[in-house]
Amino acid sequence: MRVAMIGTGYVGLVSGACFADFGHHVTCIDKNQEKIDMLRAGGVPIYEPGLDLLVDRNMREGRLDFATDLTEAVRAADVVFIAVGTPSRRGDGHADLSYVYAAAEEIAKVMDGFTVVVTKSTVPVGTGDEVEAVIRKANPDAEFAVVSNPEFLREGAAIEDFKRPDRVVVGVEDDRAREVMRELYRPLFLNETPILFTERRTSELIKYAANAFLAMKITFINEISDLCEALGADVQQVARGIGLDNRIGKKFLHAGPGYGGSCFPKDTVALSRTAQEAGSPVRLVETTIDINDKRKAAMAERIVKACGGSVDGKSIAVLGLTFKPNTDDMREAPSLDIIPALQKQGATISAYDPAGTVEAEKHFTDVKFASGPYLCVEGADALVFITEWNEFRALDLDRVHDLMRGNVVVDLRNIYDTRQMTESGFVYTSVGRAGRS
Ligand code: UDX
Repeated sequence: MRVAMIGTGYVGLVSGACFADFGHHVTCIDKNQEKIDMLRAGGVPIYEPGLDLLVDRNMREGRLDFATDLTEAVRAADVVFIAVGTPSRRGDGHADLSYVYAAAEEIAKVMDGFTVVVTKSTVPVGTGDEVEAVIRKANPDAEFAVVSNPEFLREGAAIEDFKRPDRVVVGVEDDRAREVMRELYRPLFLNETPILFTERRTSELIKYAANAFLAMKITFINEISDLCEALGADVQQVARGIGLDNRIGKKFLHAGPGYGGSCFPKDTVALSRTAQEAGSPVRLVETTIDINDKRKAAMAERIVKACGGSVDGKSIAVLGLTFKPNTDDMREAPSLDIIPALQKQGATISAYDPAGTVEAEKHFTDVKFASGPYLCVEGADALVFITEWNEFRALDLDRVHDLMRGNVVVDLRNIYDTRQMTESGFVYTSVGRAGRS
């Protein structure tokens, strides 16, 4: 199959490289010349473990190439994916679809023969109908079908998620297009991945419902973790105790500083707006958004409390800045709420992140960036873990203790064991653990 992938952002690039690895011929297209030059030269503009090797291998084997102009690739394509950005529109929280419609119009003008146009970007219910109308208007004679095929990749595990997904969802109402999509995903039949064919609107809603559900699950355990602190219980045991029930499942039950990232915050807001406008509000999701926003803001106060009620004049070392490990992505990261709030109350901040420093430098002022965890904690009154990178899980605690001026540790990801920390001489606060184990 010949595939044209419009947009080399996160989803576009990962999907493009993985489809090429399935054996299809893929051209990834982006208007940004610099990005295309970089990709052609073997560079990868995003941080995703394993992606550079995948891109390199498929380029060398002639299945993956890059272009700034879509004409040639779209003309030759059986399937054209729209994987451009859908940022939150300022003001109303709806997804901004202008890039999606602009791409649809460009595709329409050059498509040749029956073409399947697939929206891979997360788009509100009804966008497929709109894309169809845009194409029809720009090219009334075009032979095409518009399909919804949402992406469920997690940053940091994207390649594995693409190649071994729990399921693939395809919203399609045209028989020819259904066969093309089946062919495209045929390599997944080998590992028996369920492919769910639905109507287009249903598929569009599945993506939002999935993200909202996961955001709710995290928020649920976060609230239970506060309750654990109030009642003297342990949230990790509670999560295990409920998660072993298959109906609940053990994933996404890690209490922490609140969810961030490029999807959950944006998609929950977009879903709640859509639902309000449809006259069918999703109140659980609205409440989830509210709780999560407040939680991120409340984390600074937790740190202040751990520091004895004031951080004025204190030096705080922060380990982990990105919204989660194995990414350099800072979007909606809890650190963006926590660090300025601490600075406002008079703290000076040193910080270290294994991959996010370049991005983080754009967001913070007056933060001293260290080049490693030990340099970061030197002279600090308190140490705060915000993101659970693996390299923070086995620090030499005696060395950390010797390097710090104070002994306060606030672990917002429950990376460490309370007893181990206490025995190492730290005054240790974590999330949802009453402090006995
Ligand atoms: C998410 C969805 O998982 C993915 O299916 C979708 O396509 C895009 O959005 P991503 O944003 O990459 O992926 O990260 P994810 O691993 O889901 O984590 C999102 C946020 O939730 C992070 O801030 C993470 O720290 C937080 N989280 C996750 C928790 O606080 N606790 C958990 O148990 C799981």
